Amino acid sequence: MKLFLDTADLDEIREGVRWGVLKGVTTNPSLIGKAEQGFLPLVKEICSIVEGDVSIEVSGDDTGSLVDQGREITQIADNAVVKIALTPNGLAATRRLSDEGIKVNVTLCFSPAQAILAAEAGAYIISPFVGRLDDVATDGLRLLSDICEIYAAQGYGTQVLAASLRHPVHVVEAARMGADIGTMPFKVFEALVKHPLTDSGFKRFTEDWEKAKPHLGELPPSMQEA
Ligand code: E4P
Repeated sequence: MKLFLDTADLDEIREGVRWGVLKGVTTNPSLIGKAEQGFLPLVKEICSIVEGDVSIEVSGDDTGSLVDQGREITQIADNAVVKIALTPNGLAATRRLSDEGIKVNVTLCFSPAQAILAAEAGAYIISPFVGRLDDVATDGLRLLSDICEIYAAQGYGTQVLAASLRHPVHVVEAARMGADIGTMPFKVFEALVKHPLTDSGFKRFTEDWEKAKPHLGELPPSMQEA
Protein backbone atom coordinates (compact mmCIF):
# COMPACT_ATOMS: atom_id res chain seq x y z
CA MET A 1 0.00 0.00 0.00
CA LYS A 2 1.37 3.38 -1.00
CA LEU A 3 1.49 5.90 1.86
CA PHE A 4 0.20 9.42 1.12
CA LEU A 5 0.00 12.48 3.34
CA ASP A 6 -3.33 14.28 3.59
CA THR A 7 -1.97 17.79 3.98
CA ALA A 8 -0.98 21.01 2.24
CA ASP A 9 1.75 21.74 4.80
CA LEU A 10 5.07 21.91 2.94
CA ASP A 11 7.21 21.08 5.99
CA GLU A 12 5.18 17.94 6.67
CA ILE A 13 5.51 16.85 3.04
CA ARG A 14 9.28 17.50 3.04
CA GLU A 15 9.62 15.42 6.22
CA GLY A 16 7.63 12.55 4.70
CA VAL A 17 9.86 12.62 1.62
CA ARG A 18 12.96 12.65 3.86
CA TRP A 19 11.81 9.40 5.50
CA GLY A 20 11.89 7.78 2.06
CA VAL A 21 8.38 6.30 2.28
CA LEU A 22 6.05 9.01 1.00
CA LYS A 23 4.48 8.19 -2.36
CA GLY A 24 1.99 11.04 -2.80
CA VAL A 25 -0.20 13.75 -1.32
CA THR A 26 -3.92 14.43 -1.12
CA THR A 27 -5.26 17.91 -0.54
CA ASN A 28 -8.77 19.24 -0.15
CA PRO A 29 -10.25 22.77 0.08
CA SER A 30 -10.06 22.74 3.90
CA LEU A 31 -6.36 21.80 3.89
CA ILE A 32 -5.51 24.32 1.15
CA GLY A 33 -7.29 27.06 3.14
CA LYS A 34 -5.41 26.11 6.31
CA ALA A 35 -2.04 26.52 4.57
CA GLU A 36 -2.76 30.26 4.05
CA GLN A 37 -0.63 30.54 0.89
CA GLY A 38 -1.33 31.45 -2.73
CA PHE A 39 -3.05 28.48 -4.42
CA LEU A 40 -0.91 28.10 -7.55
CA PRO A 41 2.53 28.56 -5.91
CA LEU A 42 1.46 26.20 -3.11
CA VAL A 43 0.23 23.34 -5.30
CA LYS A 44 3.16 23.74 -7.70
CA GLU A 45 5.56 23.46 -4.76
CA ILE A 46 3.79 20.36 -3.41
CA CYS A 47 3.96 18.74 -6.86
CA SER A 48 7.68 19.49 -7.07
CA ILE A 49 8.52 18.11 -3.60
CA VAL A 50 6.80 14.75 -3.98
CA GLU A 51 7.35 12.46 -6.98
CA GLY A 52 3.99 10.66 -6.86
CA ASP A 53 0.39 11.71 -7.37
CA VAL A 54 -0.86 14.96 -5.83
CA SER A 55 -4.65 15.27 -5.71
CA ILE A 56 -6.01 18.80 -6.12
CA GLU A 57 -9.73 19.34 -5.66
CA VAL A 58 -12.02 21.26 -8.00
CA SER A 59 -14.96 23.30 -6.70
CA GLY A 60 -18.64 23.69 -7.53
CA ASP A 61 -21.01 21.19 -9.13
CA ASP A 62 -21.40 22.26 -12.75
CA THR A 63 -20.10 19.56 -15.09
CA GLY A 64 -18.69 21.99 -17.66
CA SER A 65 -16.89 23.99 -15.00
CA LEU A 66 -15.54 20.83 -13.32
CA VAL A 67 -14.15 19.69 -16.68
CA ASP A 68 -12.55 23.10 -17.32
CA GLN A 69 -11.02 23.14 -13.83
CA GLY A 70 -9.80 19.56 -14.28
CA ARG A 71 -8.10 20.39 -17.58
CA GLU A 72 -6.33 23.33 -15.96
CA ILE A 73 -5.29 21.41 -12.85
CA THR A 74 -3.68 18.73 -14.97
CA GLN A 75 -1.52 21.45 -16.60
CA ILE A 76 -0.04 22.43 -13.22
CA ALA A 77 2.35 19.46 -13.10
CA ASP A 78 2.76 15.96 -14.53
CA ASN A 79 1.82 14.43 -11.16
CA ALA A 80 -1.29 16.57 -10.57
CA VAL A 81 -4.47 14.48 -10.18
CA VAL A 82 -7.92 16.10 -10.39
CA LYS A 83 -10.09 15.48 -7.33
CA ILE A 84 -13.85 15.57 -7.89
CA ALA A 85 -16.71 14.98 -5.44
CA LEU A 86 -18.96 11.99 -6.01
CA THR A 87 -22.11 13.71 -7.35
CA PRO A 88 -23.96 13.00 -10.61
CA ASN A 89 -22.30 16.04 -12.22
CA GLY A 90 -18.97 14.98 -10.73
CA LEU A 91 -19.36 11.54 -12.31
CA ALA A 92 -20.19 13.12 -15.68
CA ALA A 93 -17.07 15.29 -15.42
CA THR A 94 -15.01 12.24 -14.40
CA ARG A 95 -16.21 10.40 -17.52
CA ARG A 96 -15.28 13.31 -19.79
CA LEU A 97 -11.89 13.90 -18.20
CA SER A 98 -10.93 10.23 -18.05
CA ASP A 99 -11.90 9.90 -21.75
CA GLU A 100 -9.31 12.64 -22.37
CA GLY A 101 -6.70 10.65 -20.42
CA ILE A 102 -6.86 12.91 -17.36
CA LYS A 103 -6.49 11.21 -13.97
CA VAL A 104 -9.41 11.75 -11.60
CA ASN A 105 -9.62 10.96 -7.89
CA VAL A 106 -13.32 10.64 -7.05
CA THR A 107 -13.71 11.77 -3.46
CA LEU A 108 -16.31 11.77 -0.66
CA CYS A 109 -17.25 8.13 -1.23
CA PHE A 110 -19.39 6.64 1.54
CA SER A 111 -20.98 3.56 -0.03
CA PRO A 112 -20.03 0.57 -2.21
CA ALA A 113 -22.69 1.65 -4.74
CA GLN A 114 -20.97 5.03 -5.14
CA ALA A 115 -17.62 3.27 -5.57
CA ILE A 116 -19.05 1.16 -8.42
CA LEU A 117 -20.30 4.32 -10.16
CA ALA A 118 -16.88 5.96 -9.83
CA ALA A 119 -15.11 2.96 -11.36
CA GLU A 120 -17.63 2.79 -14.20
CA ALA A 121 -17.05 6.52 -14.84
CA GLY A 122 -13.36 5.78 -15.39
CA ALA A 123 -11.96 7.10 -12.09
CA TYR A 124 -8.21 6.68 -11.60
CA ILE A 125 -8.70 6.68 -7.80
CA ILE A 126 -11.71 6.20 -5.52
CA SER A 127 -11.52 7.73 -2.03
CA PRO A 128 -13.72 6.11 0.63
CA PHE A 129 -13.66 8.15 3.87
CA VAL A 130 -13.11 5.66 6.68
CA GLY A 131 -12.91 7.99 9.71
CA ARG A 132 -15.90 10.15 8.78
CA LEU A 133 -18.10 7.04 8.64
CA ASP A 134 -16.80 5.92 12.04
CA ASP A 135 -17.74 9.39 13.30
CA VAL A 136 -21.40 8.66 12.52
CA ALA A 137 -21.34 5.21 14.14
CA THR A 138 -20.93 3.31 10.86
CA ASP A 139 -18.05 0.92 10.23
CA GLY A 140 -15.69 2.76 7.87
CA LEU A 141 -13.31 -0.19 7.52
CA ARG A 142 -16.24 -2.38 6.46
CA LEU A 143 -16.89 0.02 3.59
CA LEU A 144 -13.25 -0.16 2.57
CA SER A 145 -13.27 -3.95 2.68
CA ASP A 146 -16.48 -4.09 0.58
CA ILE A 147 -14.97 -1.82 -2.07
CA CYS A 148 -11.70 -3.80 -2.22
CA GLU A 149 -13.71 -7.02 -2.63
CA ILE A 150 -16.03 -5.62 -5.32
CA TYR A 151 -13.19 -4.02 -7.29
CA ALA A 152 -11.22 -7.30 -7.23
CA ALA A 153 -14.31 -9.29 -8.30
CA GLN A 154 -15.00 -6.89 -11.17
CA GLY A 155 -11.36 -6.40 -12.17
CA TYR A 156 -11.67 -2.60 -11.98
CA GLY A 157 -8.39 -0.75 -12.55
CA THR A 158 -9.44 2.16 -10.31
CA GLN A 159 -7.11 2.44 -7.30
CA VAL A 160 -8.69 2.28 -3.85
CA LEU A 161 -7.40 5.12 -1.67
CA ALA A 162 -8.29 4.70 2.00
CA ALA A 163 -9.00 8.28 3.12
CA SER A 164 -9.87 9.93 6.41
CA LEU A 165 -7.57 7.55 8.30
CA ARG A 166 -7.43 8.63 11.93
CA HIS A 167 -4.99 6.24 13.65
CA PRO A 168 -2.43 3.49 12.92
CA VAL A 169 -4.99 0.66 13.22
CA HIS A 170 -6.92 2.21 10.30
CA VAL A 171 -3.69 2.19 8.26
CA VAL A 172 -2.79 -1.41 9.11
CA GLU A 173 -6.31 -2.66 8.39
CA ALA A 174 -6.44 -0.76 5.09
CA ALA A 175 -3.18 -2.46 4.07
CA ARG A 176 -4.52 -5.86 5.17
CA MET A 177 -7.64 -5.37 3.01
CA GLY A 178 -5.54 -4.59 -0.04
CA ALA A 179 -6.16 -0.85 -0.41
CA ASP A 180 -3.76 0.55 -3.04
CA ILE A 181 -3.14 3.80 -1.15
CA GLY A 182 -3.64 5.09 2.40
CA THR A 183 -3.72 8.82 3.01
CA MET A 184 -3.38 10.29 6.48
CA PRO A 185 -2.59 13.44 8.43
CA PHE A 186 1.04 13.88 9.48
CA LYS A 187 0.25 13.03 13.11
CA VAL A 188 -0.98 9.56 12.04
CA PHE A 189 2.07 9.14 9.77
CA GLU A 190 4.33 9.93 12.76
CA ALA A 191 2.38 7.57 15.01
CA LEU A 192 3.14 4.69 12.60
CA VAL A 193 6.82 4.72 13.54
CA LYS A 194 6.47 5.09 17.29
CA HIS A 195 6.76 2.18 19.73
CA PRO A 196 7.88 2.46 23.37
CA LEU A 197 9.87 -0.79 23.11
CA THR A 198 11.77 0.62 20.13
CA ASP A 199 12.62 3.72 22.18
CA SER A 200 13.71 1.85 25.33
CA GLY A 201 15.58 -0.79 23.30
CA PHE A 202 17.41 1.87 21.30
CA LYS A 203 18.36 3.70 24.51
CA ARG A 204 19.77 0.55 26.09
CA PHE A 205 21.73 -0.50 22.98
CA THR A 206 23.19 3.00 22.72
CA GLU A 207 24.30 3.01 26.39
CA ASP A 208 25.74 -0.52 26.18
CA TRP A 209 27.62 0.36 23.00
CA GLU A 210 29.18 3.44 24.56
CA LYS A 211 30.35 1.33 27.54
CA ALA A 212 31.74 -1.43 25.31
CA LYS A 213 33.39 0.78 22.69
CA PRO A 214 36.69 1.44 24.50
CA HIS A 215 37.28 -2.34 24.73
CA LEU A 216 36.45 -3.30 21.14
CA GLY A 217 39.74 -2.46 19.43
CA GLU A 218 39.78 -1.00 15.93
CA LEU A 219 36.40 0.04 14.50
CA PRO A 220 35.45 1.23 11.01
CA PRO A 221 35.99 5.06 11.09
CA SER A 222 32.28 5.90 10.78
CA MET A 223 31.43 3.63 13.73
CA GLN A 224 34.19 5.20 15.80
CA GLU A 225 32.69 8.67 15.21
CA ALA A 226 29.00 7.72 15.62
C1 E4P B 1 -8.95 12.62 1.42
O1 E4P B 1 -8.53 12.80 0.33
C2 E4P B 1 -9.46 13.67 2.32
O2 E4P B 1 -8.78 14.86 2.08
C3 E4P B 1 -9.25 13.32 3.77
O3 E4P B 1 -8.75 12.03 3.96
C4 E4P B 1 -10.35 13.73 4.68
O4 E4P B 1 -10.00 13.36 5.99
P1 E4P B 1 -10.73 13.97 7.27
O5 E4P B 1 -12.00 13.22 7.44
O6 E4P B 1 -9.77 13.67 8.39
O7 E4P B 1 -10.91 15.42 7.01
